[in-house]
Amino acid sequence: MGWRLQSETIAFVPTMGNLHAGHLALVEQARQCADKVVVSIFVNPMQFGADEDLGSYPRTLTADSAKLAPVTDLLFAPPVAEIYPRGHGVSSQIDVPGVSEGLCGAFRPGHFTGVATVVAKLFNMVQPDYALFGNKDYQQLQVIRRMVADLCFPVEIIAVPTAREEDGLALSSRNGYLSAAEREIAPRLYQALQSVVQALVQGRNDYAVMEQEGLYVLEEAGFVPEYFSIRQAGSLKLAQPGMTELVVLAAARLGKTRLIDNLACSLVE
Ligand code: PAF
Repeated sequence: MGWRLQSETIAFVPTMGNLHAGHLALVEQARQCADKVVVSIFVNPMQFGADEDLGSYPRTLTADSAKLAPVTDLLFAPPVAEIYPRGHGVSSQIDVPGVSEGLCGAFRPGHFTGVATVVAKLFNMVQPDYALFGNKDYQQLQVIRRMVADLCFPVEIIAVPTAREEDGLALSSRNGYLSAAEREIAPRLYQALQSVVQALVQGRNDYAVMEQEGLYVLEEAGFVPEYFSIRQAGSLKLAQPGMTELVVLAAARLGKTRLIDNLACSLVE
C-alpha cells in the first residue's frame, strides 16, 4: 500500500460483519484518529462454542462492503484458511488470565482465547497504530487491553461508547434474532443496569444484594439471566466499598438470543 513509507497512520476496526450503526460509529471515530482506516470482517470460528451460533451468524458481506466503501480505505475479509491455515484447534493461541475469567468467560469457555488469538493475528497482519473497540463488549475490551500491554503490541486501543436504540437497547448483530415480543422486553436489560447505577451513585454499597436484585428484575421481565455483576472498572475485580470507578455488567438470554450490556459509573464527587 505504501502507507507506511509515506508515514501515514492506520486505524483498524476489527468486526465480524453484519454492520450496524455501532460499527459505523467505530469507523467514524477511526477516521478522526488516523490517516487511513482498515476494517476487517471475519466471523472467527475460534471464539464460538460448540453449541453457539457460528453456523447461523449473519454473513452480509455485500451489504457491509457497500456501507464501508465511502468511509474506509481498505476492507480486509479473509477466508478462514488464511487466518487458520492449520486449523484453529492445532495452532498457537493466546490466553489472557485474570480479566478473561468470570462473567462471559465463565459462560463461554474458550471464547476470550479465541478473541485474543484472532485479534493478535489481525494486528500482526494489519499493523495498525490504533485499534477501536466498542464499550458494549466491556470484558472483551479489557482482555484486549491486557493482551496489548502484556505482549507489547505497538497499538493504541481506543474504546468507543456503546451505540443504542432510542429505547436504550445496545446495538448488536444478534438483536436481529429477537422476535417482536422479545424486542419489546429487551431494553429492560439496560433499564436494570441504569437503576443499579443510580443506586450506586446514591451511596448504596451492598453489592451482593444489589446483584441478586438485578437478577430478580431480569427474571421478572422474562429473561434467563447468566450474570449481573458489579465490578471495578478496568480490572473487573469484584466491587469493594471504597472503589470509585465501577461498572455494572449483565448477560441474559431472551429466547434464543444472548444479550450483554454494561454501564459504568464514577463515584468521585
Ligand atoms: O467484537 C467482535 O466483533 C469480535 O469479537 C472481534 C473483536 C472482531 C474478534 O473476532
